[in-house]
Amino acid sequence: MAKKISAIVTLLNKLLVIELTASDVYWQQYSTLKDLRYRRLAKHRKGDAKEERGHAQRLIDRILQLDGDVQFERATVDPGMDVAAILRVGLKLEIQAREVYTPALAEVMAAGDHVTRDILAENQLANEEGVHWHEQQLRLIEQMSLANFLQAQL
Ligand SMILES: [Fe+2]
Repeated sequence: MAKKISAIVTLLNKLLVIELTASDVYWQQYSTLKDLRYRRLAKHRKGDAKEERGHAQRLIDRILQLDGDVQFERATVDPGMDVAAILRVGLKLEIQAREVYTPALAEVMAAGDHVTRDILAENQLANEEGVHWHEQQLRLIEQMSLANFLQAQL
């Protein structure tokens, strides 16, 4: 494998850890929320978990196109046991993802790999939307109190 390509495969595998971790954490959180009967939030989390799976799949497909080895690794993250903790964990994951994707985008652009760039840009857009959504939920909790927020999730 050419040196440039192998650097991109290494980078894609690093991003894959982020997406697989987010997908697993969101699935765990979905299960907790479902058990707590917060139906609306649980439904949203289920969708998030599937979305993250989709981001991971884009990276996997690209690694395979580049003849690289896919590494299915996850980071260890405490998913949180109540709604506020779950949302704070989600916000942290999205912010961390955004921070790692920014230099990754610059790296693939510098390497002239515009196909990978487009894939990363799509995932990065989702990271930004994720940060925004979590900030909105946490703001709502502040504004309407946790009790009222939870009431609205039933
Ligand atoms: Fe993602």
